[in-house]
Amino acid sequence: MCGIVGAVSERDVQGILLEGLHRLEYRGYDSAGMAVMGSDGQVNRVREVGKVAALADAVATTPSRGIVGIAHTRWATHGEPSQANAHPHMSGQRLAVVHNGIIENYIELRDSLRADGFEFTSQTDTEVVAHLIEQQFRLTADLYKAVQAATSKLRGAYALAVLHADEPDHVVVCREGSPLVIGVGIGENFIASDQLALLPVTDRFMFLEEGDMADVRRDSVKIRDRDNAPVERPISRFEHSMDSADKGEYRHFMLKEIYEQARVIKATTEGRITKTRVLEQALGTDAGKLLENVRHVQIIACGTSYHAGMVARYWIEELAGVPCSVEVASEFRYRKHVIQADTLFLCISQSGETADTLAALRQAKKAGFRAAMAICNVPSSSLVRESDLVIMTQAGPEIGVASTKAFTTQLTALLLFTIALAKHNGLSDAKEAELVEALHALPSQVAAALDLDDAIEELSAAFVDKHHSLFLGRGSLFPVALEGALKLKEISYIHAEAYPAGELKHGPLALVDSDMPVVTVAPNNDMLEKLKSNLQEVRARGGELFIFADGESRMTSEEGIHVMQIPAVHPITAPIVYTVPLQLLAYHVAVLKGTDVDQPRNLAKSVTVE
Ligand code: AGP
Repeated sequence: MCGIVGAVSERDVQGILLEGLHRLEYRGYDSAGMAVMGSDGQVNRVREVGKVAALADAVATTPSRGIVGIAHTRWATHGEPSQANAHPHMSGQRLAVVHNGIIENYIELRDSLRADGFEFTSQTDTEVVAHLIEQQFRLTADLYKAVQAATSKLRGAYALAVLHADEPDHVVVCREGSPLVIGVGIGENFIASDQLALLPVTDRFMFLEEGDMADVRRDSVKIRDRDNAPVERPISRFEHSMDSADKGEYRHFMLKEIYEQARVIKATTEGRITKTRVLEQALGTDAGKLLENVRHVQIIACGTSYHAGMVARYWIEELAGVPCSVEVASEFRYRKHVIQADTLFLCISQSGETADTLAALRQAKKAGFRAAMAICNVPSSSLVRESDLVIMTQAGPEIGVASTKAFTTQLTALLLFTIALAKHNGLSDAKEAELVEALHALPSQVAAALDLDDAIEELSAAFVDKHHSLFLGRGSLFPVALEGALKLKEISYIHAEAYPAGELKHGPLALVDSDMPVVTVAPNNDMLEKLKSNLQEVRARGGELFIFADGESRMTSEEGIHVMQIPAVHPITAPIVYTVPLQLLAYHVAVLKGTDVDQPRNLAKSVTVE
């Protein structure tokens, strides 16, 4: 969840570290800090509560120049956000550590270090790591060996970067359960938890594997694997354009990313469909072999990605006739499973680093599933590297914590997958052509939904003073209602719940009054008449309705009913198009409420802890 950046250079690294932290702020943003090796041979540390801007101000006031440094932006796990708990953590005045992840056995380690005379100044698990390495350094007088010995005592997940004033020309890093990448420069090298952090200084990256440890110097990077054998990790070039990490003309990343959807949905289908067919080979050279005898699909994901999986279940069962189960990763990984023969295990994750999803995948690989497949947006992620078959979404980096374009491109990729699977299960050429035509139509339909932006902005005023709201949908539009409610709650902090509309009278209807706005997505499909009856039930109790529908739904605005029309779309692709107005609604409500849209409180973009 936290962000790490570091540099070993010939030039002053403070600016590089600060820029890197700004770019990593999406991972955590309750405090930030850096430690640099000063030319006086001292480790100079600056830490501030709040966002990276506060650290930048502090650094500007008391610059601490240095050519080797490590820095961190924090998302609190152990201990409140405070200066004392902010990273880097030090042991004495000479060793500094930044850490991403969780050390599970930190209490027993802390007790034993206290008994050895080490004093603790924070509530964090990370400070234990600092003292543990220092303890080993006193025995070995070698930072690399000290980190190696100390990490052998750690249980949990971590990425670490360590520097020591006695060895001022390098940084030692290691990875176990949390991502870490090395940026390769010319006469300088860098480290970060995400390559985005380093794009201003390099586009060449080496990805550490689980268990790897590296000695990073200005002119060399030496990596050893978990068996202490020297290894080379290939250097790859960053694929997305640098602009993707900039807001451009938009006020927020979230708005920019909402507007990018027409383009990135197209990019996700490009090269994978003809005018009438899905090119199975383009989903992976082994796709045909892996999909051939699939008899069940088990989808695992978290949050927004889970909602994408829920939509996919409707598609997979309707179009491919293959049973499909969907479960959140944090539940799946902690229960016993009955695995049906020939089950495809499918993980969906924007980041590809979500701890629960990765843990579920690793269990699944040992458990006898037919194959592990991933739908992911980050090519270099652990999820991609550990799966047998991968369909990359082409959303480009998503910076806003609230997922938008990642979701609609996941749905697009899932529909491609569904059609390919369905072709093995009797989908006719004519139906395939109809679905592919619907995929081709998506970018312009999403653009048409975006045209509602001004009208939705006006509508959003009705939500600003509300504390609760209800989202309704039926069939494959129910997960869209869930996603709309998640968007509203995470960025506007308004309590939002979603229900399949048919469930209303089984309890939630009791909540409905004029203070409870009810949002619904109502395309003209075979559930529309039933949905309309559910909406009557709401209106009869004084509930104000906000309905997104197409012209064919034959719904019009009247007292207490606000209808926003979007063009008619194919029922299968409706979940993708109808997501867009709900994203815009959440966005405008949050802007009116003045919340931090791109970095909502208590959240982080990449959830690399359990
Ligand atoms: C939603 O807006 C959030 N960003 C969150 O629910 C997210 O989808 C979830 O944490 C899963 O992340 P992943 O797709 O990177 O695995």
